[in-house]
Amino acid sequence: MSTLPVVFFAFQTRKMDLRSNKWIINFIVCLFFMGASCSSVEKKIYVHLNYTIPCVRLLNATHQIGCQSSLSGDVGVLHVLESEENLDWVLRSGPNPPYMVILESWLFNRPVMIKLKESSRRVAGVVVVAPSTNPAEGFSPHTKCPNENTGVYSESYDPVLAHCNETVWNPLGNGLSYEEFDFPIFSLKDDNDTQIIRQCYMEHNRAANGSSPRYPLCAMQLYSHMSAVTDTATCMRRNDINFSISPEMVCDPLGDYNVWASTRPLNTTTKGHKMWEKVVIAAARLDSRSFFFDIAPGAESAASGFITLLGAAHALRNATQEAPPNRTILYTFFQGETFDYIGSSRLVYDMENNEFVVDLDNVDSVLEVGQVGRLNNSRIWLHSDPVSRRNSSIDDEVNKLVNNLRSASAGSGFSVEEPGVSQPLPPSSFQRFLRARQIPGVVIEDHQSAFANRYYESMFDNAEYLNVSYPPNLTPEEQLEFVTDTAKALTEVATIVARALYIQAGGADTQLRNINADPQIVSQMLYGFLVRSNNSWFQQLVPADLASHLTDRPTNFYVGVTQQPSEPTSLVQYLLANLTGSTMNITQDDCQNQRENESDKDSKHLYNYRWVQGAAPPNSTNRQGYCVRSTVHLSKALSPAFDLREYTSKDYSTWTESRWKTIKGRVFLVASHELEMLTLGVGVGVLLTSLLLTYIISSKADILFSSGREPTNATY
Ligand SMILES: *[C@@H]1O[C@H](CO)[C@@H](O)[C@H](O)[C@H]1NC(C)=O
Ligand SMILES: *[C@@H]1O[C@H](CO)[C@@H](O)[C@H](O)[C@H]1NC(C)=O
Ligand SMILES: *[C@@H]1O[C@H](CO)[C@@H](O)[C@H](O)[C@H]1NC(C)=O
Ligand SMILES: *[C@@H]1O[C@H](CO)[C@@H](O)[C@H](O)[C@H]1NC(C)=O
Ligand SMILES: *[C@@H]1O[C@H](CO)[C@@H](O)[C@H](O)[C@H]1NC(C)=O
Ligand SMILES: *[C@@H]1O[C@H](CO)[C@@H](O)[C@H](O)[C@H]1NC(C)=O
Ligand SMILES: *[C@@H]1O[C@H](CO)[C@@H](O)[C@H](O)[C@H]1NC(C)=O
Ligand SMILES: *[C@@H]1O[C@H](CO)[C@@H](O)[C@H](O)[C@H]1NC(C)=O
Ligand SMILES: *[C@@H]1O[C@H](CO)[C@@H](O)[C@H](O)[C@H]1NC(C)=O
Ligand SMILES: *[C@@H]1O[C@H](CO)[C@@H](O)[C@H](O)[C@H]1NC(C)=O
Ligand SMILES: *[C@@H]1O[C@H](CO)[C@@H](O)[C@H](O)[C@H]1NC(C)=O
Repeated sequence: MSTLPVVFFAFQTRKMDLRSNKWIINFIVCLFFMGASCSSVEKKIYVHLNYTIPCVRLLNATHQIGCQSSLSGDVGVLHVLESEENLDWVLRSGPNPPYMVILESWLFNRPVMIKLKESSRRVAGVVVVAPSTNPAEGFSPHTKCPNENTGVYSESYDPVLAHCNETVWNPLGNGLSYEEFDFPIFSLKDDNDTQIIRQCYMEHNRAANGSSPRYPLCAMQLYSHMSAVTDTATCMRRNDINFSISPEMVCDPLGDYNVWASTRPLNTTTKGHKMWEKVVIAAARLDSRSFFFDIAPGAESAASGFITLLGAAHALRNATQEAPPNRTILYTFFQGETFDYIGSSRLVYDMENNEFVVDLDNVDSVLEVGQVGRLNNSRIWLHSDPVSRRNSSIDDEVNKLVNNLRSASAGSGFSVEEPGVSQPLPPSSFQRFLRARQIPGVVIEDHQSAFANRYYESMFDNAEYLNVSYPPNLTPEEQLEFVTDTAKALTEVATIVARALYIQAGGADTQLRNINADPQIVSQMLYGFLVRSNNSWFQQLVPADLASHLTDRPTNFYVGVTQQPSEPTSLVQYLLANLTGSTMNITQDDCQNQRENESDKDSKHLYNYRWVQGAAPPNSTNRQGYCVRSTVHLSKALSPAFDLREYTSKDYSTWTESRWKTIKGRVFLVASHELEMLTLGVGVGVLLTSLLLTYIISSKADILFSSGREPTNATY
């Protein structure tokens, strides 16, 4: 009879709030009335929400941020917040707390969210309705000073420049992405789901003439329970404990892979320093984020930079093969930079520990392409580090690099300029190189001081913001080919970057005329990453298994926790291979075995061979695959803190993402408290009767069922 205490427990928790009693009623009803009543409960459910995007929990060395629901999902009466004054209903006067607050996106700001957070006993959760156009006033849920503690500027490097004292890079940042909320927050697209929610609210919950609304009320339940709590050290310890019992993890380190390629093949089996090798690093970042989990379009913050660098790499393919400059150009695309420079800190760490093909002694200079999608008045800004430039030999090298960029821009319609001498570097991967050593370098941006980007690390940093839009009535295929103004501008920047890299690597001026980025290629990349990755061009460049993952949505650039390279990483890998490599006429077998023919043993040290699915000839549906040979490789972008097991590291990123089981939401009608009480009462009554009956039957079993079987009470 061990079920009895459970029922009493249910009785006591019932008083707590609506969250638990709904669940418990369902539970009890389902448990004891088996099937029949369960489905009658289900019938009351209005709708399951289809396109819900949650905010999830992330942890670092000291904090947890993000959102979560209770294990059984949080339930609240729907309240559509129409204005900020209306907030009082939720926070104080409304008679049916807790509330599930539906926010129009213009109310998703810091003051409103902090008020909701502070009275979280009356708030069951928040749903933000994503608008179909970007808010004109700008919006950034990121911090004002991104990666404040893990860049180069610190008390020991130059206290005057630390903590954005000199320049606040992201003045619109409201920091919401770094707050902790103990209720679920979801985003919904403004479509049929939100229409149903609004309708349900209007019909049932809207208080007419100041009176309180009558039951039944429209309620919503959101599930986003997170397994990890407190901080990274705690969850990694729990991972270790859990692992010994069952392979159930509670959190995973954020991480992915960096993509790199060199203009001259480097023997990847020999790591560390090579006396003769000097490399010019050309860098860009690959990731972004937003407040919500899997929507990080990163158009300006990531895509504008790496697409420009890919365009430049393509422009350099012929020149670097026909007239190779004496230094190698190393293209690097860093993942996880948003979260305290995961990718670049790992590459520098690998270089310092002889785990990478070149090491820091080999690095001649660094040219990084940052945010370049919002060029104002055709001016490109070259940012450099004032601290290392106090050393005259570094300063000379930086000036040389700046002059190379200047001469590369001659005749291009763009002017390159330097911001004031005392201004530090903006947040950039190059800072992680400077942390290790004084290296000359320049970061190219579209802003002089604060970011031009008004939607930094938000869901609005999208194609619309970069003016990547198409005339009406174009088919997807025509859109793919259409050269937008943004593409033209980025192509110009790519040409400048390519030419500057060529001169910086020691190439001859006479070649510069032949180095030109292709506006068609840049357009196609903008389309592929910002509009639709499932397009005919990307389909040709990738192998079949990756092609099946291409989608009709913009790419999500949140770094994630994948063991396999993520979709953006893989796409950049195959694009870079296509744009810098060459096609080989070899069999699929040899290609997959990383060799050019049966007897070839050495090529695999120098090159990477990838079999891609290619295009189908006009009168056939079978694609004709081919092999691409390139110097494109992946390297781990996992913070060294996790290899070193230093989960409270101050030098390296410690970000982890919690695991979860269910993300879902539904809308339904709740009956009045009295009715629920009655349901529960009847349920318990029936339960007690059935227990009594069971007891009587089982104690008299030998009389009622006289047979040779075991006594039936053995089953209870
Ligand atoms: C962890 O994140 C919180 C919230 O952004 C921040 O205040 C704190 O400084 C971070 N801790 C470390 C060690 O970086
Ligand atoms: C929304 O509802 C309308 C009519 O009920 C339907 O035609 C349309 O396909 C729905 N849209 C989505 C995105 O479900
Ligand atoms: C959600 O999806 C289900 C099944 O795909 C569909 O039956 C339902 O109508 C959808 N709901 C809305 C609101 O679009
Ligand atoms: C609200 O007040 C208006 C005017 O006083 C009245 O006409 C209307 O019927 C009232 N609505 C309800 C639901 O009581
Ligand atoms: C985008 O288009 C608008 C209107 O045509 C224009 O004002 C704005 O400068 C453009 N932005 C960029 C980055 O080209
Ligand atoms: C300047 O930098 C060069 C190269 O990094 C180094 O050899 C030299 O010692 C530095 N000079 C000073 C004065 O720090
Ligand atoms: C991608 O597009 C092709 C047509 O070009 C289509 O057959 C396929 O279903 C699409 N894949 C996805 C995942 O939408
Ligand atoms: C790159 O892709 C294009 C279009 O699919 C193809 O024609 C070309 O051969 C590819 N080049 C390489 C080197 O793979
Ligand atoms: C590829 O190689 C095969 C045999 O090795 C040869 O018959 C064919 O003509 C080659 N194709 C091209 C395009 O070179
Ligand atoms: C690359 O390095 C490995 C190990 O040092 C060596 O065995 C191999 O021959 C080298 N390959 C080439 C092409 O130099
Ligand atoms: C495809 O079409 C071309 C020209 O139209 C023709 O020469 C070729 O034989 C056709 N191939 C097949 C497999 O039908």
